Amino acid sequence: MRFIVSELKPHIYELFPSLVYHTPFLTKDECEMYTKCLDDIEKESLPCSQRPLYQTTDKLHLLNNTWKELSNKVIDVINSIADHQHMIRDSLYNTNMWANIAAGPGYFHELHSHPNCFFSSIIYLRGNESSKTIFHDPRAQIKVLRPDYSEPTRLNTTAFKLPFKEGSISIFPAWLTHTVLSEGNDNSDRITITCNTMPHFESNKRTSNLKI
Ligand SMILES: [Fe+2]
Repeated sequence: MRFIVSELKPHIYELFPSLVYHTPFLTKDECEMYTKCLDDIEKESLPCSQRPLYQTTDKLHLLNNTWKELSNKVIDVINSIADHQHMIRDSLYNTNMWANIAAGPGYFHELHSHPNCFFSSIIYLRGNESSKTIFHDPRAQIKVLRPDYSEPTRLNTTAFKLPFKEGSISIFPAWLTHTVLSEGNDNSDRITITCNTMPHFESNKRTSNLKI
């Protein structure tokens, strides 16, 4: 006898999820305005792990009111996410904010995460179909046995391609690894702003208390 899960109707516990939030954030005009503002900011070329790419200072959030306002708007959104996750904290603040500006069709960003922060976020100012962020399954054990699946689903995939949407923001746990691939398309117009965000909180758990 072969059971069918849909007939058994079990309760399925989707344990320990890696939550990636993706929401509209800026209008088209705002995207163009911030892109234009980047023209006046000094940029530096990055090493081979992420090229051809230019980045601004990682203190963009402290540069002037334009960027401070954007930084505050990011914090407003992340506060709603911290509420959604029932996180007890005093406040949230951005430790780093910088722009990533692709400088050629072969632009890629190798697998990485964002150390020394809690949340990370990406604002998609400009790009196209191939400018998507790819998030990777953080569970080391998935590499032990890897059978084929007849149909890719959210529950058996090990990578998720977040579609590019101009003006949107994605927010994710800073430890969640991700990549950008040009996928054979011209990705040279991709411009994003990245933020790293930390909470101020006090935890009084026995043997692991912390105030930051
Ligand atoms: Fe990143």
